[in-house]
Amino acid sequence: MTTLYEGAFAKVNLTLDVLGKREDGYHDLQSVMQTISIRDDVEIDVGTGKPWTLECSREELPQGEENLAWKAAKLYCDTMKIDPDGLAIRITKRIPSGAGLGGGSADAAAVLRALNRHFDSPLSIFALAELGAQVGSDVPFCVVGGTAMVEGSGERLRKLPDMPECIFVVCKPEFSVSTPELYKKIDTVAIPLHPDNRAMETALLAGDLNKIADNVYNVFDPIVTADHLELNYIKSICNSYGSLGQQMTGSGSAIFALMPSFEYAAVVCNMLKDNYSQLFIAKPV
Ligand code: C5P
Repeated sequence: MTTLYEGAFAKVNLTLDVLGKREDGYHDLQSVMQTISIRDDVEIDVGTGKPWTLECSREELPQGEENLAWKAAKLYCDTMKIDPDGLAIRITKRIPSGAGLGGGSADAAAVLRALNRHFDSPLSIFALAELGAQVGSDVPFCVVGGTAMVEGSGERLRKLPDMPECIFVVCKPEFSVSTPELYKKIDTVAIPLHPDNRAMETALLAGDLNKIADNVYNVFDPIVTADHLELNYIKSICNSYGSLGQQMTGSGSAIFALMPSFEYAAVVCNMLKDNYSQLFIAKPV
C-alpha cells in the first residue's frame, strides 16, 4: 500500500461574467480565476485491498461516493482502466463550504493530480483538467491552478501571468447560497454591469495591483447582496481599512478583499473578527 499526499487549494473569481444560458441548461461564463493559499489536505491510500472508503473531517459533508473527491477517483480509474485494488481517501477540510471558494472542486482536482502522478502521469495536466470537467465546472481550473481565464461552462482555460505579490482577506458569512438557484435567478434579471475582462487581463500583464483591484467584479455580487445586505457591511469594513478592491467570489457567500500588505489585512480581520469567525488571510498561489 502507498499513501499519496496532495494539497487542495481554494480559488477566488477575480471576475465572473455570465454570458448566457446554453441548451444543456448550463451557462457560458467568462471568469478570471486565481488560486489562493487556503488549503485542504488530501491523503489517499492506494492498494488497501478493501472496499473504497472516504473520510472527510467536516462531518456534514458527504463521507462516501457522493463526495466530489470520490467521483473524481472513480472517473479517473474508469477512464484509465486502472484497478487501484482499494482506495482510502481522507480529506482534512479548511476551505469553508458553500462559500464560492471551490472547496469540493479543489479536493476532486487534488485526487486527479495525485492519482495521475502515482500512475506515472499518463495524462498531461490539460488532459487531466478536461477529464475534471465531468466532475464539476470549477474542477478544470482547480487541476491547473494559478491565474487563468476560464470560459465555456468552466472547461476552457487560458493561463494568465501570475498575480503580483498581495494579500487576500477572505470572510465567509454564516449564510450560504444555492448555486443552481442563483443561476436560475440570473436568467430572470437584466445584468446591469459586466466585468471588463480585457482590462483585467491587461492589468495582470502589467502586474498592476491597483488596476487588478479596480477591475474585480462578479455579476452575482449585486444579486446576492440585495438579499443579504451584510455583504455591504463586510465590503465597507474592508474598504475603510485599506482594501484596494473587494467582491464576492463565485456564487458566494464569501467576500475577498485585495490588501496591499499583511499589516492592512490584519487590521481588517481585527475589525471583522467579533462578527465573523470564518476569516482568512491568504496569498495568491
Ligand atoms: O458544475 P457544478 O456542479 O459546479 O455546477 C453547479 C450548478 O451550477 C449546476 O447544476 C448549474 O445549475 C449551475 N451552473 C451553470 N452554469 C455553469 C456552472 C454551473 O448553470 N457554467
